[in-house]
Amino acid sequence: MLFLPWSGSALYSEPVPVHIVEHPLVHDALATLRDVTTPPELFRRMAVRISLLLAAEATRDIPSETGCVQTPLGPAEARRLSGNVVVVPVLRAGLGMLDAVLELIPSARVGHIGLQRDEATAIASQYYPKLPGGLSGSFVLMIDPMLATGGSAVAALDVLRAAGARAIRMICIVAAPEGVELVERHHPDVEIYAPVIDHGLNAHKFILPGLGDFGDRLYGT
Ligand code: PRP
Ligand code: URA
Repeated sequence: MLFLPWSGSALYSEPVPVHIVEHPLVHDALATLRDVTTPPELFRRMAVRISLLLAAEATRDIPSETGCVQTPLGPAEARRLSGNVVVVPVLRAGLGMLDAVLELIPSARVGHIGLQRDEATAIASQYYPKLPGGLSGSFVLMIDPMLATGGSAVAALDVLRAAGARAIRMICIVAAPEGVELVERHHPDVEIYAPVIDHGLNAHKFILPGLGDFGDRLYGT
């Protein structure tokens, strides 16, 4: 496992690095998400804010093409996104990050993968897959705020691979070393973007210190 602060340059080596996003605005939002006193309404707003910032980092080098636009004063060189982007939230908690990514890339198509961890075993089972076609030629952004044991991430990545996805990045908000290692072992070419790698997991496979159950805090369940 190789942790590198995101510097804006391409950091490819073996193993594929985890991009640690150090931006102070990211960490300010993360502090509010971690705070046990944060109510669901504020939690949702901070989830959107941090997701915007993380998605901007994770898409720094997505394809764009140079063209021209007319400003009120004349022509200007302009760059527009040219690639085909698919964003895939892992339900349910990943939905809290979706609006942020669509705000940045309104043309993105959206796939959904529904996974739920068993409360006793922490093993994820799938209850819903719905993916757009043409994944092999798309830049795929998988979003799931919590990377704990990594079981859910690996299961979701397996689904994406089986559907033909090749260029995949994962964005999460809090990761545990165990989850990062599992993803690296099963999907070594998937780059992970996260603000932080926490200390580890507790006996119930929750991230320590983490922020608790993201889905429950997002939806007030
Ligand atoms: C959470 C989270 C991840 C998963 C991470 O989802 O959103 O998908 O746990 O844990 P893992 O790395 O150990 O698999 P959860 O299954 O609690 O469902 P939810 O999104 O419906 O709350
Ligand atoms: N899912 C969560 O929401 N939080 C954790 O700490 C682990 C899995």
